[in-house]
Amino acid sequence: MIHTYKHIENVLVNDNIVVQKKTYHFKDAPPKKTGCMIVGFSGNNGSTLQATILANKHNISWETKHGQKTANFLGSLSQSAVIPVGRTGKNDIFYKHFHEIADFIKPTDIVLGGWDIYKNDLKGSMKESEVLHIDLQNKINSLNNQTQALPSIYYPDFIAKNQSDRANNIIPGNHACQEHLQKIRTDIKEFKAKHNLDCVVVMFSATTEKYMKLSKGVHDTGENIIRAIQTNHLEISPSLMFGVAAVLEKCIFLNGGPQNTIVPGLIDLAKINKTFVGGNDFKTGQTKFKAMMTDFLTSSGFKLNSIVSYNHLGNNDGLNLSSEEQFKSKEKSKSDLIGNIVSSNKTLFPDEKSFPAHSVTIKYVPNVKDDKRAVDEYIAEICMGAEQTISTYNICPDSLLAVPIMIDLVIFSEWMSRLQVKSKNELEFRHLPTVLSHLSFFFKAACVNKGEVEQNALFYQRNNLAQLILSSKGLTVFNPLLKF
Ligand SMILES: NC(=O)c1ccc[n+]([C@@H]2O[C@H](COP(=O)([O-])OP(=O)(O)OC[C@H]3O[C@@H](n4cnc5c(N)ncnc54)[C@H](O)[C@@H]3O)[C@@H](O)[C@H]2O)c1
Repeated sequence: MIHTYKHIENVLVNDNIVVQKKTYHFKDAPPKKTGCMIVGFSGNNGSTLQATILANKHNISWETKHGQKTANFLGSLSQSAVIPVGRTGKNDIFYKHFHEIADFIKPTDIVLGGWDIYKNDLKGSMKESEVLHIDLQNKINSLNNQTQALPSIYYPDFIAKNQSDRANNIIPGNHACQEHLQKIRTDIKEFKAKHNLDCVVVMFSATTEKYMKLSKGVHDTGENIIRAIQTNHLEISPSLMFGVAAVLEKCIFLNGGPQNTIVPGLIDLAKINKTFVGGNDFKTGQTKFKAMMTDFLTSSGFKLNSIVSYNHLGNNDGLNLSSEEQFKSKEKSKSDLIGNIVSSNKTLFPDEKSFPAHSVTIKYVPNVKDDKRAVDEYIAEICMGAEQTISTYNICPDSLLAVPIMIDLVIFSEWMSRLQVKSKNELEFRHLPTVLSHLSFFFKAACVNKGEVEQNALFYQRNNLAQLILSSKGLTVFNPLLKF
């Protein structure tokens, strides 16, 4: 079914603000049977994702010292959050869940699989990650879920040396090669065929890698990446190998890690293969909060002068990040968004030199396990030269923030891959552009298409997604406060 959406936008023409009206038509196809292959299947995120989907599918309840708990999807935008849609006849505002507006796949229908360099079953990975309550683990174990991680590629240079003990489930070879690419593509084909899937999302949730040193003739076009793989180039990371294999198989590729996997050549290959990519780095706790705080202070007209962030965590992600090169990837994805948010206010922040000072520290403290601690201090200049200092302290199981985001990413990216749009003057419908920038709410350092505006303020990102969903159904964007 085709829906028509009337869009009204203010445009600056010769220094005059002019109202432009546009008409768009949207159509989508029915939801596809969808699977998700996780790179890093036996890690904390991978195993907690498997357990969460199983627990919801089987409606599992478990006992804790605080009473009985039941499986849910709290923290998932698609399942638990609402959008203001319009007014009832009585002038009250009515809200709908995201999943009530468009036709999305259900989280419990997502078929999971994936790769890991570490041989461990779900029982063992849940036990080692120490995220879920033991009674819940026992109930999940009694379901006898046999899904094992497939062996993976391991290029030791890209992750910390302290990860080498985990590499006991690997495909022989320690650098990029055609055989590795072929093997990953075969794994995807077999997964798709085994579960009779129409759509596969390949999601990187493996150990954070160091940045690749990018060079012309290697990472800039699809053709060059393929040649670099065939000639065993050493600056092709495992995550890029998964990205290339995924898009060649016409799967959606999403990067939940902070490293520079989504290079121009990968976008080029995805475009040629009419599929999609999205990234980078799941935006779960501290960075989400920081984006919201920076937006709150800047949009209130305060001059944010510094953000000092400190984390400690004790999971395997923390162990890997205790190594300098991998930490640098994380530091970059955590830092880049601040300048982008404050730069909208040219009076407070006229140039980059005036941007808030921003410092990020991550420490590995094994005994806190997955219950990451984040301490942040924000100093902003307020009225008449005074200062406001806000400090926050957050304790949270990291993986249980990541899992709902991983689920949303599969649900929304599958929907976006079906969505088509055309303006009034276009003859043919077209798919969304290759980089799924509308997923930016879920990523710390969101990728955009060439020519698109990068926007890191959290509620812009949320409203953008909500508005895309509403407009795809021909519904107008609703402002609950505007009434005359
Ligand atoms: N949990 C969060 O809140 C969060 C937020 C943002 C980003 N991330 C990112 O998500 C990723 C996973 O986090 P985690 O806590 O699950 O880490 P983890 O260390 O528990 O899991 C990572 C898994 O990847 C596996 N692995 C390493 N190299 C691999 C390869 N080449 N192929 C396949 N598997 C490989 C490891 O053996 C491990 O099981 C990290 O990059 C992390 O920075 C996590």
